[in-house]
Amino acid sequence: MQNPIQLEISRRNLLVSSAATVAVTGVAGKAVAQPAGRAMNLTTKLSFTVNGEIRELDVDNRTTLLDALREHLHLTGTKKGCDHGQCGACTVMVDGRRVNSCLSLAVMHDGDQVTTIEGLGEPGNLHPMQGAFVKHDGFQCGYCTPGQICSSIAVIEEIKANIPSHVTGDLTAQAQMTAHEVRERMSGNICRCGAYSNILDAISEIAGIKA
Ligand code: FES
Ligand code: FES
Repeated sequence: MQNPIQLEISRRNLLVSSAATVAVTGVAGKAVAQPAGRAMNLTTKLSFTVNGEIRELDVDNRTTLLDALREHLHLTGTKKGCDHGQCGACTVMVDGRRVNSCLSLAVMHDGDQVTTIEGLGEPGNLHPMQGAFVKHDGFQCGYCTPGQICSSIAVIEEIKANIPSHVTGDLTAQAQMTAHEVRERMSGNICRCGAYSNILDAISEIAGIKA
């Protein structure tokens, strides 16, 4: 058993080693904390063309293209459905290709050409695809419609550009403008109202697909 003098020495050693530990972890903590204390660049300036107009933004790096359009540029025609790339409501065209804008960061689009539903047409001067949706009753509540229309226009261009889909049979031949191809390519655009057959009629009219 330790005598009182030995106990006192042990206690002193313990205090010394504890102080050393605190000092070391304090230094280590400082070293780790330092980068967080540095001024970090959390925003980025970007310049892109939206519906033919050059727009400049200084956005939080985490801002999606969808939020940049809706919250910063107040172009609320593009809809937020799932915000997870599952519904297609947020579809816009970037350099002519359709994009789920909820899955794309705004800062990735510096210099790009973005087209939203507002850039396609307006009352009295509708884009032919918008007119076809009206003619064929391609919507009910209309929430999915801006995304459906942007997607429809881009789908026709995809087929013309011979970009294959999962149902393209012969990859060595020109992709065919068929209802089968259109159905497959539009499958990422969900319509809770179930206006699918009318949407297909509208696209078929513009694409020249015979029933
Ligand atoms: Fe983008 Fe649903 S909101 S896919
Ligand atoms: Fe209502 Fe498509 S028209 S969700």
